[in-house]
Amino acid sequence: MNNVKNKPKIVELKPGIFQIRAVRPGSHVYLIKGSWRNILIDTGMADNFSNLEASLAEVDLEIGQIDLIILTHEHFDHIGATSLCFDKVLVAAHRFAANKIQLQDEFVMMNKYFLESAKPFQADIWLEEGTIIDLGNYRLQVIHTPGHCSGSICLYEPNHRLLFTGDTVLAGGMISDICPSGSVSDYLSSLQTLRTLNVDEFYPGHGWISKSPAEDMSMAVERAQTLLEESKVLFEVLDTKATFERLFFAARKFALPKKE
Ligand SMILES: [Fe+2]
Repeated sequence: MNNVKNKPKIVELKPGIFQIRAVRPGSHVYLIKGSWRNILIDTGMADNFSNLEASLAEVDLEIGQIDLIILTHEHFDHIGATSLCFDKVLVAAHRFAANKIQLQDEFVMMNKYFLESAKPFQADIWLEEGTIIDLGNYRLQVIHTPGHCSGSICLYEPNHRLLFTGDTVLAGGMISDICPSGSVSDYLSSLQTLRTLNVDEFYPGHGWISKSPAEDMSMAVERAQTLLEESKVLFEVLDTKATFERLFFAARKFALPKKE
């Protein structure tokens, strides 16, 4: 544990469900010690890998005893440490996230932009809406929740009324940025789906856990609706062609044939 700067903060939220607190700017990591298998939900950044190992040691686990890592989406702050253990642990992500990870889609993952040092890796299992991951005492259902980015998922545990939300919705009804591959209209639709679930607590990738999910989900839906409406107004008043054309061409010009 030489590289661990501070004592790891690992907290048991429910029997066998632990939150490993984020080392910023990385995300929280959730550990579920299931009766059949152990899983991690996200891993945080590569620089935090020693903290992750130390946190697991607090509950008598090594990384090799984790059976599956499920990534909530493809962003650098949730997946970086996976690159240091994917040879020991199976990795699952929604197929839209898995594809970007496999092809190292830097425009979406944003490793370099945030100086994340993660190495390339692949997801072993490409998840779909409705996939069930059965841990014995907990059963997680994959809910595809595009919006923040296209490969975002939430993991729903209907029997215990729990939800792991990644960056899709945070406590207090906060929503995340619309990142490359994301869409505000998809975001709104995803939140409206989540609002229909029976949830007592939700566990986000950043910030506090939510103990008032119904109120928080309603606020999140309201915020996404406001964002959608305000963006319509914004696009009406902006000279959109002049503003966005440069950005689009800067991103795409490398792939386009040069004009004679
Ligand atoms: Fe994210």
